[in-house]
Amino acid sequence: MSVPSASAIAASIAPQSFEVRPFNGAVGAEIIGLDLALPINDQDFARLHRAHLEHHVVVFRDQHITPQQQIAFSRRFGVLQIHVLKQFLLSGHPEILIVSNIIENGQSIGLGDAGKFWHSDLSYKELPSLGSMLHAQELPSEGGDTLFADMHKAWDTLPQALRTAVEDRSAAHSYTARYSETRFEGNWRPTLTPEQLAEVREVVHPIVRTHPENARKALFVSEGFTTRIVGLPEDESRQLLAQLYAHSVQPEHIYRHAWQPGDLVFWDNRSLIHLAAGCPSHLRRKLYRTTIQGDAPY
Ligand code: SIN
Repeated sequence: MSVPSASAIAASIAPQSFEVRPFNGAVGAEIIGLDLALPINDQDFARLHRAHLEHHVVVFRDQHITPQQQIAFSRRFGVLQIHVLKQFLLSGHPEILIVSNIIENGQSIGLGDAGKFWHSDLSYKELPSLGSMLHAQELPSEGGDTLFADMHKAWDTLPQALRTAVEDRSAAHSYTARYSETRFEGNWRPTLTPEQLAEVREVVHPIVRTHPENARKALFVSEGFTTRIVGLPEDESRQLLAQLYAHSVQPEHIYRHAWQPGDLVFWDNRSLIHLAAGCPSHLRRKLYRTTIQGDAPY
């Protein structure tokens, strides 16, 4: 008996009936009626891929999937990146970073202050992230929203003088940019070991990058990880970055996600920066994040 090929198996997967409904605001769309626990055929996957590129952040509603299923779906977009804070990786599934403010037996079960500053995930790596998926496990009854800012729009609307000032420049990104500050404020973050520090050496990326899949330009700096503009005096660099940050996060560039049970949110780190709004500390919040590796920015 002959064994069916992978392409024959993929072709035999039934299509799912689902809708892509764009939000009214700056970016984002919700996907209604798709079940990520079921196999997804190539045509449906191509439609999801297009929706992600077009809307930059897509919200899959009502998903009841296991960590393995989240990992498998994430892997269809690329290689997964393992976060440097190994103590917050899901046991048995290092591809998942636990984002949570929950303390159990005196220990944080996850990174409680992830996303406290606007950032693009892993911009401090040579190969920053293509996109991240965050799946709700436990949500607070109040707060806990995630905000996304459109960095294509930020570039498109940037005043000419600022464009000229930054267009051909690069900036340094570092995981440790705000690490001590957040560590002392929140008590979540462990001291980094020499091995962890070696994993997150400072990198330099263009301030204006071109999206490798849609060819649009985007600003690629953030208050979370960008430390300086290369080749400028410190004061000038700080002032210029402050102007870029203020311009990027104007209300008309932002989609604010209010989480619903079962949401899996998949955003494009090449197009957006994001921020966790936080929730009252007595309320429990837990989400699972997978992070897909992208290309070197150019
Ligand atoms: C993150 O920055 O990865 C987490 C965002 C959130 O918790 O809303």
